[in-house]
Formats: sequence, C-alpha cells, structure tokens
Amino acid sequence: MTELEFLRLAEEIAREAGDMLLAKRPTMSGEIETKSSPTDVVTALDKASEELIRERILAARPADRILGEEGGEEPGESDVRWIVDPIDGTVNFLYGLPDWAVSIAVEVRGEIVAGVVNVAPRGEVFTAARGHGAWLGPQRLRCNTGVPLSQALVSTGFGYDKNRRAVQGEVVAQVLPRVRDIRRGGSCAVDLCSLAAGRVDAYYERGINHWDFAAAGLVATESGARLAGLNGRPVSPDYALCAAPGLFEELHDLLVPLNPERDA
Ligand code: IPD
Repeated sequence: MTELEFLRLAEEIAREAGDMLLAKRPTMSGEIETKSSPTDVVTALDKASEELIRERILAARPADRILGEEGGEEPGESDVRWIVDPIDGTVNFLYGLPDWAVSIAVEVRGEIVAGVVNVAPRGEVFTAARGHGAWLGPQRLRCNTGVPLSQALVSTGFGYDKNRRAVQGEVVAQVLPRVRDIRRGGSCAVDLCSLAAGRVDAYYERGINHWDFAAAGLVATESGARLAGLNGRPVSPDYALCAAPGLFEELHDLLVPLNPERDA
C-alpha cells in the first residue's frame, strides 16, 4: 500500500472510533481504573476504542503488527506496525473537556509514513502522509515561523509520576518568564497538531509514549516543524521538543541545562 492508501484506511478507522466515543461517552465514561499511578486513568471506553481499532486494522491487514496504549504490542510478520492511542487526553475525556483525540500512525520499516489525529469533540481531523504535507480537513497546515523565544506560546505536558511532576514544575517555572506564555492542554497529540495549525508555537515534554506522538509528530513535521529529543537525539518517549527551526534551537538551549540526565 502507498502512504496515501495507509492514510485513508487509518482515517476511516480513526473516524469510526471517534464517532463511537462521542456517542457513548456520557453513559460509559464512569467506568474508571488507574494504571501507573492514582492519577493515570483508563476508562472502559479507552479499551473499547482500542478493541474497535485493532479489529478494523486486522480485518484489512491481518499480518500487521499493532502497538496500542491499552493492549501493548501485537506480534505479526509484516514490516508494517500501527501505533494506536485510542484516547489521547483521557483526563480531558473524563471531565468533558474537548481536547482529546483518537491517534493512529502507520510505521513502515521503522519510519512513520501516515498519521491521523481525530479530535472528535471539536470535529477536527488532522492528517499527514510522509512527503504530502499536513492537513486539517482540506486545509494545508504550516506551523508558525520566525517567532523568537520571548514571543513564543509554548505548550507542554506532565507525566503521571509525582516525582517527575515535581521536576516538570521546576522546569516550567524557569521557562515561563522567558516566553509569551505556557499552555497545558492535556493531550500531546492535540498539542502537536495545534502547533502544526499555528495555534501554539512550540511544544516540549519529558516522558511521553510512542502512541502519544507517533501520528501527531508526522503532522507537526509535515507542517514544517522540527521534532527531536535533546542534545541531537531523535524524538523518543524520553523527550520531545517541537518548533519551527530557529525557535527549536532557542528553546532547546534553554531546556538542556534544566533537564539533567536523570530519571525525571
Ligand atoms: C497523556 C497526554 C498528556 C501528556 C501525558 C500523556 P493519555 O496521554 O498526552 O498531554 O502530558 O504525558 O500520558 O494518558 O491521556 O493517553
């Protein structure tokens, strides 16, 4: 399949999952469990959404591998891996806030080639295929360029571990006086798509997961942004920093001394 064919299939599935979540949210979202910490929640609908997505992928591509937030890695023979976050922004979902999304990325031989982020409560579907640009419906997206750090609206997120959060709070305290303002939207995928759409200028976070940024990372880079870790490393669950070139380097140089090599 081509990148665009993968994108079409991913979009169809992400739309179906988003519709299901919108239809069922008021009745089922009360079934809550916790995962890595008391603040790391999972609802019955996270699981239902991932089950639906896995079923649809395997019906179309039975040999492919799937990595999902709730079900982990599904083995398979294919060199294609689907990376799924059935609800990114589960806490927003739980509280009825509109920044949550279904995120589906397609990785071929280790490279993301297509990504869809369906921000269902806002009726916004962000898409990207490698080399084909980033899109919000029919609108081509380009991230903001030429913004100096002092004028930048920067989004970030916090992990669920309380020790990590304490350090993230210290970092925010250092960044806040150097930028226009900070936003904490509650969904990494929505944050990166917002950057692609020019709604924020930059994003950084330490300690996320592949499924949080796999699809939205492609949307952001196809909009012209740079996405990487610190100190020349690629983006990874350890660190994600994203902004247009120029602002990326300025924010990078601010963040490096604030993020010593420790587990925080
Ligand atoms: C979380 C969101 C949040 C980020 C956390 C993620 P989840 O994902 O993306 O914005 O700050 O690090 O874990 O748990 O809602 O799928």
